[in-house]
Amino acid sequence: MPKTIVMYCLMRAFTLLGVYVLFGCMGEGAVQADTPVGKANQVSIEHYPVSPIGNAPGASPQTKALALSLGAGINFGNMLDAPSEGAWGLKVEDEFIALVGNKGFSRHVRLPVRWSNHASTDAAAVIDPEFFKRVDSVVDRLLAGGSTVVLNMHHYRQLDGDPLDATDRSVDPSVVRVRFLAMWDQIAQRYAGKDDRLIFELYNEPHGIQESTWNDLLSRAVRVVRKSNPQRALVVGPTLWNSASALEKLVLPPDPNLILTVHHYEPFNFTHQGADWVQPTKPLGVDCCDANQAALMTSLLDTAVKQAARLGYPIFVGEFGAYSLAPEAARIRYLRLMREAMADRGMPWYYWELAAGFGVYDPAKHEFRTNIKQALFQP
Ligand code: GLC
Repeated sequence: MPKTIVMYCLMRAFTLLGVYVLFGCMGEGAVQADTPVGKANQVSIEHYPVSPIGNAPGASPQTKALALSLGAGINFGNMLDAPSEGAWGLKVEDEFIALVGNKGFSRHVRLPVRWSNHASTDAAAVIDPEFFKRVDSVVDRLLAGGSTVVLNMHHYRQLDGDPLDATDRSVDPSVVRVRFLAMWDQIAQRYAGKDDRLIFELYNEPHGIQESTWNDLLSRAVRVVRKSNPQRALVVGPTLWNSASALEKLVLPPDPNLILTVHHYEPFNFTHQGADWVQPTKPLGVDCCDANQAALMTSLLDTAVKQAARLGYPIFVGEFGAYSLAPEAARIRYLRLMREAMADRGMPWYYWELAAGFGVYDPAKHEFRTNIKQALFQP
């Protein structure tokens, strides 16, 4: 890069624009050095090349071992994945962090984070420093407590073509996908030095996106993460809300440190009865689990196992659960059946979720919901 341009970039970076001019000055396909403020939108997705072409080699021994070490986990849901922390009535409390880890009921945490709503709306998607610090502190404390942590990106509504939540930041459609990559570039760099027990998950439940578009984005995202984290375990899942049935369309880049994920909420009319975020709302009073329901539950797990074997990577169930309005006894039957079926197939799992509408823990009473905890986490 010519010296004058370097000088120009540094000068701009240290004055008005901070990180995102630097971003614009780096790497192949970067915007011109004189990109005016506000035109960062013009950074194309080609700024982030696809992974090398080639067959996915299957998982490395260390990633297989890591996946085997995972087990009965818990989602810290409705906290950092809300439009802002607390907007859905929950924050990551010290109390919650104290529940997990070596001394807790689970040593495996999945941490959903809505990065997109805490990043600049241009192509550079500069993540708010204060938000980054907040996530740092949660990740650090979870790791220090002995947990493995799956840190993901959750609810980037525009990537899914979904309507925004009321306080979500709206971005120009032309920068939606490049922002995804720009955010991963920053997240990956930020946490590059962390313990191997920190695992990245690229995106929660992609949907409303063509499989080919998702495969392309995945390939670029793996490459951008690998710049700073050559070997960290990276979780990837299929479209259709991470449905096992979409695994056959997933194309993996040639990377040995991937772990697959699926989500499993079938029978959906049972698990989501009364859930007000599902429209039209499913009627209450649905029971579980008769032979047809059980067959649906296990057949999806079988599909997941079969596809994972075909692809050569370990797989876990990143979310499953039944909402609190499902009949209590049926809910417990559902949980026991799922737990047993996943154990039979050697699949690690993460229950959705800790302390909100599916919660294993009652944050108002500061106590576990014993029946759920027993069904899932006790011998
Ligand atoms: C998905 C959504 C989450 C929702 C859960 C159960 O993970 O991201 O917000 O609560 O499924 O529907």
